[in-house]
Amino acid sequence: MKFFVDTADVAAIRELNELGMVDGVTTNPSIILKAGRDILEVTKEICDIVDGPVSSEVVATTADAMIAEGRKLAAIAPNIAVKLPLTWDGLKACKVLSGEGKMVNVTLCFSANQALLAAKAGATFISPFIGRLDDINMDGLDLIQDIRIIYDNYGFETQILAASIRTVNHVTDVARIGADVMTAPPEVIRKLVSHPLTDAGLATFLKDWEKTGQKIL
Ligand code: E4P
Repeated sequence: MKFFVDTADVAAIRELNELGMVDGVTTNPSIILKAGRDILEVTKEICDIVDGPVSSEVVATTADAMIAEGRKLAAIAPNIAVKLPLTWDGLKACKVLSGEGKMVNVTLCFSANQALLAAKAGATFISPFIGRLDDINMDGLDLIQDIRIIYDNYGFETQILAASIRTVNHVTDVARIGADVMTAPPEVIRKLVSHPLTDAGLATFLKDWEKTGQKIL
């Protein structure tokens, strides 16, 4: 499973990228607001750091305007994936932009039927939002499972990008189901390393090592 990082925090992206943990980046208007940076400038900076797809989202709501914004965002760097909302206009824009050879990430997906439409419109990625479904007492993981089955049934090449990941358990769950990609905030990716038995085991080893009186270096 590929790891995308869901942030426009350049320092965090750089740190995780040096560890080989970043296969791509996702942003959205709320993330750009949080970063407090100009969208074109920060997106370019991210594209210079990361080789994989960097999703940048349009804010227009009509197909023609989405296409124009998408072309402008795609001109930032060859690894831009234009992020479009899952509306009819978004699907129209998806068809046009993917037809031009641009990567497209169709976002705000909350049903399997929406994911089916995005695949038929040529989306490179579909972004089902797990956490936001959990927030309203629905099961985001069921959605990932349904999309996996449907895409496999018909051989759609659209990649399932599990989004709105809030917990480390979400990461395990979507990997088990077979999502192609997951995108999570840097803090969730960092938490994946933690296990209390690792900490306790290391503490014991270090204490015992001290008692040997030996040194390696
Ligand atoms: C995905 O592309 C979105 O940017 C993101 O995962 C949304 O997550 P949230 O529901 O935690 O805001």
